[in-house]
Amino acid sequence: MAPTSPKTKAGGYTPQLDDAERASRDEIMALQTTRLAWSLGHAYDNVGHYKRAFDAVGVHPSDFRELSDLARFPFAAKKDLRDNYPFNMFAVPREQLVRVHASSGTTGKPIVVGYTVADIETWSSVMARSIRAAGGRSGMIIHNAYGYGLFTGGLGVHYGAEKLGCTVVPVSGGMTERQVQLINDFRPDIITVTPSYMLAILDEFKRQGLDPRKSSLKFGIFGAEPWTNAMRAEIEGAFEMDATDIYGLSEVIGPGVAQECLETKDGLHIWEDHFYPEVIDPDTGNVLPDGEMGELVFTSLTKQGFPVIRYRTRDLTRLLPGTARPGMRRMEKVTGRSDDMIILRGVNLFPTQIEEVLLATDWCGGHFILELTRDGRMDELTIHAESRPESWDGNGLTDHADRVVLHIKNTIGITAKVRVVAPDTLERSLGKAKRVYDKRPKG
Ligand code: DLL
Repeated sequence: MAPTSPKTKAGGYTPQLDDAERASRDEIMALQTTRLAWSLGHAYDNVGHYKRAFDAVGVHPSDFRELSDLARFPFAAKKDLRDNYPFNMFAVPREQLVRVHASSGTTGKPIVVGYTVADIETWSSVMARSIRAAGGRSGMIIHNAYGYGLFTGGLGVHYGAEKLGCTVVPVSGGMTERQVQLINDFRPDIITVTPSYMLAILDEFKRQGLDPRKSSLKFGIFGAEPWTNAMRAEIEGAFEMDATDIYGLSEVIGPGVAQECLETKDGLHIWEDHFYPEVIDPDTGNVLPDGEMGELVFTSLTKQGFPVIRYRTRDLTRLLPGTARPGMRRMEKVTGRSDDMIILRGVNLFPTQIEEVLLATDWCGGHFILELTRDGRMDELTIHAESRPESWDGNGLTDHADRVVLHIKNTIGITAKVRVVAPDTLERSLGKAKRVYDKRPKG
């Protein structure tokens, strides 16, 4: 269900669309068929891994005739990219790459991705389109607090914003006090940042005695981590702004793979003229019909330097028909990654479920962490939730904590401990939030 927005500063809004955003579903599918045929051939001819993987299952790019044929091709997984570290997945000579990025990953070697001049142009275009869909326009000031560096967030947004004709403030993450000062002095229209770091910026506004509703910010483009509609309501209410969700991953290009449209705020339109989505059953690998929940898989349609064929993202979502852009499908807000799923005494749980429960209270503003421990043979989950300053009783808000324990028991079906901690005591993320601390003995 689309959330209703509170009062925001944006006022009237008329979408501005490019040709692909106006295309019909049939036109998009015809374009995808042509582009997929090219991309499969390009990957097979130029990347050793794809040639070996296709040959191993006896499939050739010439077997592809229509979109459903894609299911005959093998998946690519994170491990394949790691095994080819650093440069063996590139489809062009390294000299033709103008940039590399890398995703840190949780273990071992990072995944390295590369871009030709044309890839940077594609990325800038989809990113510019995303900013426009979020309410951005040429001439606006954009405060870009995504991290600059090997992470794709900072530079990805930066090039898209320039292409749209915005004035970019490349502030990157961190130094929260200065973030607030720059927002007050430069009066940006748009902020781009992880939702968890936006909460830290909100705290800093309050700490400085400033009313965030009086800030110049009209549009927020939040992503790089899962977040809920409850968090949207929290941020939109605090700043009187419109908050939309942006999705992307380094392997597929970076931010700008999918973006929520301001006029509907009903999930993210996938820019299907460049990225072909599938949702699969993570256990069997079978393609699921639209509407069913599973693992998101992407095939790049136009990328030169680092094509991906059926890349398993591990992100869980479902595909829905287009609304604000009828030719392109939407993906529902990502519930979480399969890697972040906690299995507690047999019940599957995502941090976003806890976020929703906590933000439904009036005392928690959205700062929380989850700690997993083992007591004998029993796994235990402790939720450390931070109190809003105005709600804090100096003593753990025990009645409120008990109510959350009960609510979680009744809605999610697990027994968790809830510890309410004093304002400003949990560590703030500067980028992606780390929600889960698994302290169970290994093995
Ligand atoms: O996080 C790219 C990005 C930057 C997206 C800025 C949006 C804004 P990676 O570091 O490679 O790239 O991490 C990709 O982050 O597979 C998801 O698990 C998660 N993720 C990204 N956007 C969202 C979102 C960037 N809107 C991984 N909702 C992805 C939920 C997201 N999860």
